[in-house]
Amino acid sequence: MRTPSWNYRTIIEPFKIKVVEPIRMTTREERQVILRQAHYNMFNIKANDILIDLLTDSGTAAMSSEQWAAMMRGDNAYAGSKSFYRFEEEVKGLTGYAHIIPTHQGRAAEKILFSIVGGKGKVVPNNTHFDTTRANVEFSGAEAVDLVIPEGKQPQAKHPFKGNMDVKRLERLLGESKPGQVPLCMLTVTNNSGGGQPVSMENIRETSALCRRFGVPFFLDACRFAENAYFIKLREPGYEEKTPAEIAREMFRHSDGCTMSAKKDGLVNMGGFLGLNDEQLTQQARNVLILTEGFPTYGGLAGRDLEAIAQGLREVLDEDYLKYRLRSVEYLAEHLIRIGYPLIEPPGGHAVYIDARTLLSHLPANQFPAQSLCSALYEYGGIRTVEVGNAMFGRTENGEEIPADMDLVRLAVPRRAYTQSHIDYVIEVAEMVYQDRQTLKGFRVVKQTPILRHFTIELEHVESRLAGKKGD
Ligand code: F0G
Repeated sequence: MRTPSWNYRTIIEPFKIKVVEPIRMTTREERQVILRQAHYNMFNIKANDILIDLLTDSGTAAMSSEQWAAMMRGDNAYAGSKSFYRFEEEVKGLTGYAHIIPTHQGRAAEKILFSIVGGKGKVVPNNTHFDTTRANVEFSGAEAVDLVIPEGKQPQAKHPFKGNMDVKRLERLLGESKPGQVPLCMLTVTNNSGGGQPVSMENIRETSALCRRFGVPFFLDACRFAENAYFIKLREPGYEEKTPAEIAREMFRHSDGCTMSAKKDGLVNMGGFLGLNDEQLTQQARNVLILTEGFPTYGGLAGRDLEAIAQGLREVLDEDYLKYRLRSVEYLAEHLIRIGYPLIEPPGGHAVYIDARTLLSHLPANQFPAQSLCSALYEYGGIRTVEVGNAMFGRTENGEEIPADMDLVRLAVPRRAYTQSHIDYVIEVAEMVYQDRQTLKGFRVVKQTPILRHFTIELEHVESRLAGKKGD
C-alpha cells in the first residue's frame, strides 16, 4: 500500500524550483507613490511593482518541466496536428465527451455555446454564474438565474458544499418553464463567485437527474474541476478511497458537456475548451469556432499550448499536488482568522475572501471598504488582491453610490507559483494592516465607465478632497 505522505505535520510543496522569476523589492514610500499614480486601482499597477500577486489564480500557474518538454514537442500544423490528437485523447479520457473543441480561454467556449443556445426568452440556471458566463448569457438576450443553496450566500455559514445547487428551486424553475425555454443548466465547480466553494457529487447527481427528467442538457463550468474533486474526496462519505481522477471522471460522466478555462486547473497560462456530446450542437459550435477562434484542430491555440494542457490536466489530478494546493489556501485562511479577519468560511479551493465591510465597519459601504483594504495590503506589503464589491458590482445613480451586497477582497493563490514563506509574508503583512484597520480611509470615485467599471475606475481618499477644499 502507498504510504501517504500527508501524515506529516508539514505539507511541503510537492515540487522543486528549476526556473525562477525575480521579485523586485519596493519600499512602503515607493508604493504610496505607485498607489496614487494608479488612482488606487489594483488593475493599474504594473506587475513589476508587485511583490506577491494574488489578483487571480487564472493563467498564473507555474508550468512543470514535463509541460515545457511537451511544448517543445508541439506540432503547429494548421490542420490535424499531432498535438491536437494528444490533447483530444487526454480530454476525452477525462471527460468522456464525444467532441472536444479547443478555444483560447474559458469565455471563448462560453461565447460559442451561448451564441448558439442562448437568445431572447431563454433562461439559463447555474449555481452562480461567473461574470463572463453571465455576460455571455445576457449578451445573447437570455436570462441568467443563480440558484445556489441559501448557505452559499451566508459568509459565515458552515457547510461542506456551499456551492451546491438548490435543487428544489431548480425543479420549480424547470417545471414552470416552457419546452425549450431552458436550453441547458450549468453547475460551476468550484463556485468561484460564491467564494470558490465546492459542489458535492450527490448534488451533481441530483442536478443531472433532474435535468434529464425535464429533457434539459446539463453542463459543467469545469475550470476548477480537480479542486472540486479533491473536496469531494475529503468531505463526502463514500469517496475517501477514490482517487481524484476517478472522482473527476465521475463528475464529468453525469454531464452532457462543459466549458473549461484551462488557465485554472489545466495548469497553463492560456487555453480552454468546449466539451460536447450532442452531434448537432457540435457542428454548429465548430462553425462559430472557425469564424471566431480558428480551425477545429487548433481553435485559437498553438499546437504547443494543446500539449501543455494535455500534460497539465494529468498533473493537476495528482493527489500530493491537490493535498498541498487545498492545504495552502486553508493555511492562509486559518492564520487570517487567528488574526481576526472575518472570512467567507470555510475557505474555497483557490482563494480566501475577506469580508472588508465587516472588518472596516467605520467606513460606510459607499466609501469602498474593500478598495481600502486592497490599497492597504499593497501599501504595507506590495501584495495585490482584487476587490469583489462596490467597484465591481455597485453602481452610481444620480451621483449616488448604490452599494453592492458585499464588499469582499479576494486573495487568489496562483498554482505552484509561491512557497510557504511567501504566504507567511502575506500573513505578516495582513497582521500589520489588521492592527491599523481603524485608521484606513475610505474612497470616492473620480472617474468611471458605465460597464465593468472596476477595471478602469479611478479613486481618491475621501479626506484628500476635503483637505484640498480647505486649501482653496
Ligand atoms: N468560469 C469561471 C468559474 C471562472 O472563474 C472564469 C475565470 C471563467 C469562467 C472564464 O475563464 O478567464 O479563461 O475566460 N475566472 C478568472 C478569475 C478570470 O480571476 O476568477 P477565462
